[in-house]
Amino acid sequence: MDTPRARVLIVRLLLDAGADRLRERFDVVEGGLDADRARWLELAPGSRALIADPTVPVDRELLDACGQDLAIVANFAVGYDNVDLAACAERGVVVTNTPDVLTQATAELAIALTFAAARRISDAERFLRQGLWSGWEPAAHLGIEVAGATIGVVGMGRIGRRYAELAIGLGANVVYAAPRPSPEAEQALGVRRLELDALLERADIVSLHARAGEENRGLIGRSELDLIGPGGVLVNTARGALVDERELALALAEGRLGAAGIDVYEREPEVHPALLDAPNCVLLPHIGSATRTSRDGMARMAAENVIAVLGGQDPLNPVPKG
Ligand code: 8YV
Repeated sequence: MDTPRARVLIVRLLLDAGADRLRERFDVVEGGLDADRARWLELAPGSRALIADPTVPVDRELLDACGQDLAIVANFAVGYDNVDLAACAERGVVVTNTPDVLTQATAELAIALTFAAARRISDAERFLRQGLWSGWEPAAHLGIEVAGATIGVVGMGRIGRRYAELAIGLGANVVYAAPRPSPEAEQALGVRRLELDALLERADIVSLHARAGEENRGLIGRSELDLIGPGGVLVNTARGALVDERELALALAEGRLGAAGIDVYEREPEVHPALLDAPNCVLLPHIGSATRTSRDGMARMAAENVIAVLGGQDPLNPVPKG
């Protein structure tokens, strides 16, 4: 008798670029985009691999529902703040992510948001569509130029580094803040590391590329926004938890912050209502990695990690153990 194929649970959806590879080898079960947590728990028992994404909290309850044969949680994302790493480590479950393949797409989106916020693109377009444009005005919709601006990059990982490189190519002066120095980036790009407050005070534009964790929840709150100041721009393509959304909306409404370009939120898909009404604010629905190249690469990478681990090999992209 054939040995039964291992059960792989795709909790929500994995693109075919990855899912097809899994279907060839395993008994693949898919929750789909409409399934809720109760359904995930129903589908979990007996799974040897779990494919999650940032909207799926992989906690003790879900891990226990999978049972003791679970070998890997492959997160379809580079970020893994949705995964309880300690709980995975206790159960001997490997956790993997999808680095590199989304670096360019996300850095490009951060550049797009930098321009969009710095040049007030959403507000200006809304103004036109609402029929409010009555003629060219010398002082309407004034923004700031990226060339010559000082850009503060918070977090000098792969995406932060690529963003810095693109910004330098556009003529910006880049400084960075990070828990540890990055001698490679300093050498290759000529960027200087500053303490966070000094960076916020100095930069015209601040772009967040830090990992989210308990240590930096609300990293950018009222006093940090005030340091960026009325002429300054904040861009966030990393994680919503890094920014106090209520304070951000207030700072924009009161003119204490110049503009913001935001792709990620504290409680996705909820967006703080005050942010929806805030001026000079470009809001996107978490599309940092949303290019075909990037998402297919992420799907393949998640699948390859599952294939490696269920085949008795080392994971290709393990994240540090909790
Ligand atoms: C999306 C991301 O969340 O990789 C990450 O950490 O935030 C983004 O790539 C991802 O595409 C959703 O699966």
